[in-house]
Amino acid sequence: MTDEAPDIYDVLVLGGGSGGYACALRSAQLGLRVALIERDKLGGTCLHRGCIPTKALLHAAEVADTAREGARFGVNSSVESIDMSAVLRYQQGVVSRLHKGLQGLISAATIDYVDGFGEVTSPTTVRVGDRTLTGRRLVLATGSRARSLPGLEIGGRVLTSDQALGLTQVPTSVIVLGGGVIGVEFASVFRSFGASVTIIEALPRLVPAEEESISKALERAFRKRGIVSRTNARFASVAQDDASVTVSLEDGSTLSADLLLVAVGREPVSDGMGFQEAGVLTDRGFVPTDERLRTNVPGVYAVGDLVPGLQLAHRGFAHGVFVAEDIASLNPAPVLDRNIPKVTYCDPEIASVGLTEAAARAEHGEVRAYEYNLGGNGKSQILGTSGFVSVVRVVDGPVVGIHMIGARMGEQIGEAQLVVGWDAMPEDVAPLVHAHPTQNEALGEAHLALAGKPLHAHA
Ligand code: NAI
Repeated sequence: MTDEAPDIYDVLVLGGGSGGYACALRSAQLGLRVALIERDKLGGTCLHRGCIPTKALLHAAEVADTAREGARFGVNSSVESIDMSAVLRYQQGVVSRLHKGLQGLISAATIDYVDGFGEVTSPTTVRVGDRTLTGRRLVLATGSRARSLPGLEIGGRVLTSDQALGLTQVPTSVIVLGGGVIGVEFASVFRSFGASVTIIEALPRLVPAEEESISKALERAFRKRGIVSRTNARFASVAQDDASVTVSLEDGSTLSADLLLVAVGREPVSDGMGFQEAGVLTDRGFVPTDERLRTNVPGVYAVGDLVPGLQLAHRGFAHGVFVAEDIASLNPAPVLDRNIPKVTYCDPEIASVGLTEAAARAEHGEVRAYEYNLGGNGKSQILGTSGFVSVVRVVDGPVVGIHMIGARMGEQIGEAQLVVGWDAMPEDVAPLVHAHPTQNEALGEAHLALAGKPLHAHA
């Protein structure tokens, strides 16, 4: 499929974030001639403004909590101060090492990396400056950005996650608008660093996309940490001056703080790049696709946050790999949102995969959920965390959902997604030995119980 003519490619990838660079790497591995066009930095939101820098902040937050609570374990320690410049240096060190590594990967793979703003001029061409690149296939991978609400201007004391990642001082108080994933992660960081935090969430519970029992457990844990959650609370307006920012809610109440973090979702980046002119249908800026990530225009694909559904870096990776393999006629299996694992890195951590109990019942009829409390798990007791693992099975059928909360439980998502992804029966998992003492045993115990042979639990 290789063409010798300059600027003519098998695959043009517009956007060098998780979806785009994964597609370029896999395309190159498969012998396709590929150009990767990126206007900012290779690695996109995940590496520079999302997953990586936020998780570095959350790790620093965990270190602060450990120091503050040392006496609980007989280690007398305390937090003298949080040096945000040093935290940012640590965060940037992580990002820049990964960035260098990624640049190395891309240049070692025979990928033409094109630095500049790409504009789609037809289903097979992208203009970058005065250069026109031609591709047999075009992959749109332009990602997403923080969105705001009508009448809610970002600036001054009103931030999105983009600005919150670069704060050089810990605020005394923060209002977090939106109790979704970004909201609870930043609320957790700010609290660990010593700020007083109030979350405003329009829906009846925090992390509303999770199992209800997980939301309840998170709200309880946050309450214990001194984080205030105001659910069923809708934003009405905001005002700021030199001293503070004041938020008014629709019920007439007002709250003031040093900063307001807006975390009400992310919107697709697709305007002003020629998509519509090239005939690509968009829906509120998103690019709808079929299961094989094909847009309405033959030869044009879309991947990652641009495609309606979960907005997760690992979904982007999987999309990118899928499209490269589809272009290479390998007939890969579609990437479905339903079994994509989700981890929220607040303290306590939340990890889930598959269906909630209610969704499983609606789809499969008779289901059984078993909740194993971390109170019976040795390692969790050693760490001093509470929480649970809930496993949902179809009666006489496979496990279709796993939901977990507790310190470090994000690391347990690996086994959980294998179980759900492979349609395992609890009876398949029960004989597999889980190492002691690990938090992983909690997953083993839940499957043992569902298979009718509980060990450290009641049936
Ligand atoms: P989100 O959709 O998860 O949460 C936004 C929240 O804001 C919702 O709960 C919504 O009900 C609430 N909201 C909307 N309008 C409101 C209003 N007027 N007043 C009060 N509350 C209002 O979006 P979020 O947290 O901004 O994250 C964006 C995307 O990034 C998500 O898809 C998320 O999954 C992804 N992400 C994933 C992470 C991870 O995997 N650990 C980390 C951070 C983000």
